[in-house]
Amino acid sequence: TIHCKIGPSILNSNLASLGDECHRMMEEGADYLHLDVMDGHFVPAITFGHQMVQSLRKALPKSKCWFDMHMMVQDPDRFIKDMADAGADQYVFHVEATQDVDKTIRKVKEAGMKVGVAIKPKTPVEVVLPYVEHVDLVLVMTVEPGAGGQKFMDDMMPKVKTLRKRFAELDIEVDGGVSPDTIHHCAEAGANLIVSGTAVVKSESPRDVMVKMREAVRV
Ligand code: DX5
Ligand code: ZN
Repeated sequence: TIHCKIGPSILNSNLASLGDECHRMMEEGADYLHLDVMDGHFVPAITFGHQMVQSLRKALPKSKCWFDMHMMVQDPDRFIKDMADAGADQYVFHVEATQDVDKTIRKVKEAGMKVGVAIKPKTPVEVVLPYVEHVDLVLVMTVEPGAGGQKFMDDMMPKVKTLRKRFAELDIEVDGGVSPDTIHHCAEAGANLIVSGTAVVKSESPRDVMVKMREAVRV
């Protein structure tokens, strides 16, 4: 079986005490943190930008915590430098949001971050195939980006399977509606980076939920 890492999405946690929430997630056993940036254009909502990330970085040094930036923004090139300077580790942008995907990939690498490409549910997996060799991960959305707490779309699993079949070593991330009840679909399809928001952060015991998720995929 594949080893899955679990990265809580803090989108639906108490944003007024985000630093503490992030700390808590790491203490409860998270492997990394998934930070959702929304710009009010690519998706209707707005969350936070690089200044928030910079503040979080002070609370959670690089050695302690991996920041996985999910950039739900139009024209992702705009934020690459700021996010790198703020201490982001990984920059995942949507192929739907940029004209020149290769150029964006190159810029993220030049800024010293790991790079990922994301696809929305309606985007066929074929769209990302030409870029896979040039990126560190592919993010397959399992809900429409824009909000936490939506229902997991298991009909996205064929995309994950296609990627896993062709790229045995690729990091494949899934995001949206993943919980102890749905994680097995993801792991069976071949995903190894598992984002989970509501199920983890809204729980009385995030630790128990993450343990349950790991048990569900036996890692
Ligand atoms: C959706 C975000 C996800 C989401 C995950 O736009 O990209 O990261 O917050 O939260 P849940 O697990 O609640 O779907
Ligand atoms: Zn996300």
